[in-house]
Amino acid sequence: MTAREAGALEKPPASLLDRPLAYILADHDRHRRACEVLRRIAKGQPVSQACIGVLKSYLADDVARHHDDEDEVLFPALRRRALPEDELSEVLLRLERDHRESYAILQDILNFLDAAATDGDVAVTPTVAAVILRYTAREIRHLAIENAVVMSIAEVRLTRTDLAAMSRLMKLRRGLEP
Ligand SMILES: [Fe+2]
Ligand SMILES: [Fe+2]
Repeated sequence: MTAREAGALEKPPASLLDRPLAYILADHDRHRRACEVLRRIAKGQPVSQACIGVLKSYLADDVARHHDDEDEVLFPALRRRALPEDELSEVLLRLERDHRESYAILQDILNFLDAAATDGDVAVTPTVAAVILRYTAREIRHLAIENAVVMSIAEVRLTRTDLAAMSRLMKLRRGLEP
């Protein structure tokens, strides 16, 4: 991972929280970049310890925060506003289940990255590579559904009031003044 790639995993600017859907989309881009880096690790390409640190902190903290933004803020707002013809109920249940189920495999990856950081070596075994590639495949599919279906419907259905409430809640979660 290069310094530029490590920078690409930085949080979106706090000012973007004024546009909560744009913030979530920026988080999706960030997650896609993290998955690209993980896939390169799975292929045995060299990664610096500093970059492992950035990736670890992203996976350990920011992924859960993003899930909370969706499970506690975005999805409830959509459940209130979506129309039956949007057929969103099952999609949201599946995405929430994906979030819950992702933590076990994510923990396996974090354990590997911890060991790699300690040893100064990120040599991957075939088993670890398979775990990483299974995680990234699941996440890329999850992102595709969120961007193509959920975010598209959110753009149409959520009102200005909904977006203001989302913005406030997402700022509070981050300890910022709403
Ligand atoms: Fe998401
Ligand atoms: Fe999600």
